[in-house]
Amino acid sequence: MSETDRILNARKRLLLKAEQAFGVEAVTWSDTTGGAGSASGADDSTSSLPLPRGPRKQAKPKAEPPRPKPVVDLFGNSVTATKADATPPDDPLPGEPLPVEERVKQLTVLDQTHVTGCTKCVLHETRTQTVFGEGAPDARLMFIGEGPGQNEDETGRPFVGRAGQLLDKMIDAMGLSRESVFIANVVKCRPPNNRQPTADETAACTPYLLEQVQLVRPEVIVTLGLPASRYMLNSSLSMGKLRGRWHTWRGIQLMPTYHPAYVLRSYNEKTRRTVWGDLQMVMEALGLQLPSSS
Ligand code: URA
Repeated sequence: MSETDRILNARKRLLLKAEQAFGVEAVTWSDTTGGAGSASGADDSTSSLPLPRGPRKQAKPKAEPPRPKPVVDLFGNSVTATKADATPPDDPLPGEPLPVEERVKQLTVLDQTHVTGCTKCVLHETRTQTVFGEGAPDARLMFIGEGPGQNEDETGRPFVGRAGQLLDKMIDAMGLSRESVFIANVVKCRPPNNRQPTADETAACTPYLLEQVQLVRPEVIVTLGLPASRYMLNSSLSMGKLRGRWHTWRGIQLMPTYHPAYVLRSYNEKTRRTVWGDLQMVMEALGLQLPSSS
C-alpha cells in the first residue's frame, strides 16, 4: 500500500468515527480521485464490520414529542395548555368538602388577599374595583357569568344591573333566593366597554373561579352564556349545541343556558321558554318542586 493510500484510509477511518458518533454505522465518501467508496471502523484490509453497499444510511428521525392537548379559550381559539388546564374536566374535585365556617374563611382570604388587589392582567388598570362574587358558601347551585359590567364595577357585586335583575327573577321562579345560591364570574374585573375578556385575561383570572367552585362545591353549576360555558367545558361548540343538556365538570353537573343579557336582547317567548326549560332541568336535578304549569 502506498503512502498516499495509507493517508487516505486513515482519513476515511476518522470520518467514519465522526459519523458513528452521530449514530451512523457506515458511510460512503468521495475520495480525492473522485471515486466513490466506503469506510468502516477497521483497516480496509482487515475489516470485519459490514461495508455499506447502498447509499448512505440516514439517521432515524427522532419521534416528535407528543403535542400538548389543544385547549380553547373563551372564544374557541386554541391556547397552549398549562398544567392546570391539563386536568381532565371530569376528574372529580379532590378532597372532602370543608365545614361551612372554613369555606367562609377561605373565601374571604381568597377575596381579600388575592382578588381585591390583583394585578395579574391589564383589566386591573381600568377597573373601579374587583367583583369577587357572592352567595351562600354551601350553595347547592352556582351561577357563573362572563364578567362584571358597569354596575358591577361600581358596586363590587355580581349581576346587579339589568341582566342581574333578570337573573334574580329566574332564581325566584326556581323557588330559590339569591342568598341561597352562589354567583360568580369568569373574570373578576370589568373589561373596558364590556368587551369580552381575552384569553390572557381569562387564563390569569380563572384560578380564582376554580378555587371558588372547589370551596363552595355546588351540586349543580349553571353557566350563563357562551364564554362561561365554553371556558368551563373547554369547548368551542355553539350555545345552541351546548345548552339544554347535562355536562359534567369535575364531578359536578353543569347546565349551560343563555346569558340573561342575551335574553333581554332577544326578549321573546321562544328564548324565555328555552331558558326556563333549562332551569327546570336544574330544578329537577336539585329535587326542587316543579311548578304544575310552566
Ligand atoms: N354579566 C355578567 O356576566 N356578569 C355580571 O356580573 C354582570 C353582567
